[in-house]
Amino acid sequence: MDYIQEVKNILSVKFENQPCANVVTFGCAQNENDSEKIRGLLAQLGYSMTDSLENSDIVIYNTCAIRENAELKIFGNIGKLKALKAAKPDMLIAVCGCMVMQQHIVDKIKKSYPFVDIVFGVNNLEILPLLMYKKYTEGKKQILPPQEKTDIIENAPILRTGRSKASISIMFGCDNFCSYCIVPYVRGRERSRKPMDIYNEFKSLIESGYKDITLLGQNVNSYGKNLEEKIDFADLLQLLCTVPGEYVIHFMSSHPKDISKKLIDVIRDNHQISRRIHLPVQAGNDRVLKEMNRRYTISQYMDIINYAKQQIEDVSFSTDIIVGFPGETFEEYLDTEKLVKDVRFTQIFNYIYSKRTGTKAAEMEDNISHKEKSQWLNRLIKIQQEIVFEHLNSYNGKQVRALVEERHRDGSYTARMANNFVVKFTDDSECLEKFVTLEITGKKGTSLTAKLLNK
Ligand code: 5AD
Ligand code: SF4
Repeated sequence: MDYIQEVKNILSVKFENQPCANVVTFGCAQNENDSEKIRGLLAQLGYSMTDSLENSDIVIYNTCAIRENAELKIFGNIGKLKALKAAKPDMLIAVCGCMVMQQHIVDKIKKSYPFVDIVFGVNNLEILPLLMYKKYTEGKKQILPPQEKTDIIENAPILRTGRSKASISIMFGCDNFCSYCIVPYVRGRERSRKPMDIYNEFKSLIESGYKDITLLGQNVNSYGKNLEEKIDFADLLQLLCTVPGEYVIHFMSSHPKDISKKLIDVIRDNHQISRRIHLPVQAGNDRVLKEMNRRYTISQYMDIINYAKQQIEDVSFSTDIIVGFPGETFEEYLDTEKLVKDVRFTQIFNYIYSKRTGTKAAEMEDNISHKEKSQWLNRLIKIQQEIVFEHLNSYNGKQVRALVEERHRDGSYTARMANNFVVKFTDDSECLEKFVTLEITGKKGTSLTAKLLNK
């Protein structure tokens, strides 16, 4: 933070006009939130934000390591900056995020992408002004090796992208070590923020007009475990719901092994909390779940789904599924199909297993071809499409509440229900970023169509 003024002075001499920054995010909502913090720092340094690479005076790639294809795509994107940097040598190129929390990736950037000026990981975003200062004053590249850091910085600047939607990180890191997952290695041990820090951030967002807030953590259900005060995630939600106003709270992600009936009861009793629960199941077979180190069985998973269905009217579920985990047989994969048909998720994020160096699963024998895994994935997508259509049809003629997200040139609007279904409608009145009541008239593709009843 001490270096902000120093860098500002350097930039004011270097650039006649206000310099431009482009922060490009790969990966999950947590990375989006980190990018908003990086933009907050850059704004304090005097940058304006741009989406154009050509107009940028600094480009920052905030990267993702979750699957191999994410990393390949990012390397492709970094490679494309070479020509730009040659044409514009004053431009700074920085790479941060999960991918560069792996030493072999940092080594590869050093060796194969020498035009990258700055590398820093996920745990020390606030170091950026110092690295820029050193780069400008010493003229040397600033490539940091992966660093573990456990303290949480409060009240850092943040430049939010959305005007009605925002996210709040309530915790960082993950202690679960699911056997396929790189996250615990790149994001480090689990740390929760203090409840009053979260409450104050939440309250100030609601007071400044935000209406759709997502609470983020790798496993929000273990919120509070490392705090001195006795508080769990259900208590935190209850606390946030005391803030007056019309808003909806989402949260991501929940681990099925830690989700409690108490949490379901809190959702039931507080209508500001979204009726959609994202509960990644990963696989439908107990042996595969055990190998994944998920620490629940399908029967335990179904218990909580059924309890939520009993308790919460209009509850819906979304999930993450991995097909083709090492050693998974076709018969075991069929259990995933059965589970999908039983739960009837409204949305599934499907992935083919990707081997991540350093994880336990990377050591396991994997003898199913990628082609076969793709076939399983396609079967699952087809089954899910039919389930989604049935969900969409079941809304016909119903009244729903939705937050209007976008106004199109033809005067139509796109709104989103709390269960993430998209609803399109046309109306002359001003509805943008407001909650509206709609009557569903039909469906178009994977969206619903509606007419406006009232605001
Ligand atoms: N391969 C495929 N998918 C993965 N995920 C995490 N690690 C891997 C991997 N190695 C998926 C999980 C997780 C989601 C965020 O990404 O489904 O819930
Ligand atoms: Fe990865 Fe499992 Fe942690 Fe989720 S809970 S981030 S899948 S290790």
